[in-house]
Amino acid sequence: MKPVFRTQLGRLYEADCMKVLPSLKSASIDTIFADPPFNLKKDYGGRADDDRSEEKYMTWCREWLRECERLLKPGGSFFVYNLPKWNIHIAPFLCELGLEFRHWIAIEHKSSLPIQGRLYPAHYSLLYFSKGKPSRFSRIRTPIETCRHCGGEIRDYGGHRHAMNPNGVNLKDIWTDIPPVRHRKFKSDKRAANALSTKLLERVIEISTHPGDLVLDPFGGSGTTFAVCEQRHRHWIGTEIESTQAIVERLTGDIDHHKNNDFIESDYEKIPRLAAE
Ligand SMILES: C[S@@+](CC[C@H](N)C(=O)[O-])C[C@H]1O[C@@H](n2cnc3c(N)ncnc32)[C@H](O)[C@@H]1O
Repeated sequence: MKPVFRTQLGRLYEADCMKVLPSLKSASIDTIFADPPFNLKKDYGGRADDDRSEEKYMTWCREWLRECERLLKPGGSFFVYNLPKWNIHIAPFLCELGLEFRHWIAIEHKSSLPIQGRLYPAHYSLLYFSKGKPSRFSRIRTPIETCRHCGGEIRDYGGHRHAMNPNGVNLKDIWTDIPPVRHRKFKSDKRAANALSTKLLERVIEISTHPGDLVLDPFGGSGTTFAVCEQRHRHWIGTEIESTQAIVERLTGDIDHHKNNDFIESDYEKIPRLAAE
């Protein structure tokens, strides 16, 4: 199958991922990031099916998960972003495939609605597995937390503040600092993709790859993974079943759009509340 778009670093296929992945070479990818539809009946444009029975959704997930495992190099990393409801089934399947569990990363989101009879859903799950011992792992540091009002530090680190690394603290497996995507006016009006924050992808790419490595994202959406790969000099392969026009525009368009997809803190209060997921 021919890519619909190429850059010096990457190639994009406008196709069902299950038509492309089987044609790629086994053990050829360093990191896979997958953000599939969550089976919430979203309309992505007519070709993607986001309304399957629970059984059919998991059967479909097992198909592409199996392909991804085949494509991963020994030492490669596999990230799957989904609702906890699905990732509790996906994680044991990845173990069955022989992958090694590294983390369940909880990504806080602040804009869901309460669900009657349930706890307030406030995180998405990001599974992080590797194929054997990871060949890449870069430790990320995050700034020491400060109060947004007075600027003072929030914690005293048990009296060991003086001994702390001035570059910040080790990244935890709870990420509370991932902003929602940018205001609608910065999103492409051509598609309703659930664009992720570039900050999320920057972390994934920084943790698990070096410049020159190859990243695969089977569910391209608005192209966040590919934009981050372009910026950080990683090779990439992407598939997207719906129109890829918005991805192509993003990758060829103005640098600001390319760089940052994230909401600015001062706009936060204006975000429309999302339907409960
Ligand atoms: C949740 S969105 C991904 C958003 C993306 N991470 C971003 O930041 O823009 C899921 C995407 O998967 C696409 N998709 C659904 N089924 C697909 C399939 N079988 N093959 C390829 N893409 C598919 C949908 O059209 C949708 O754009």
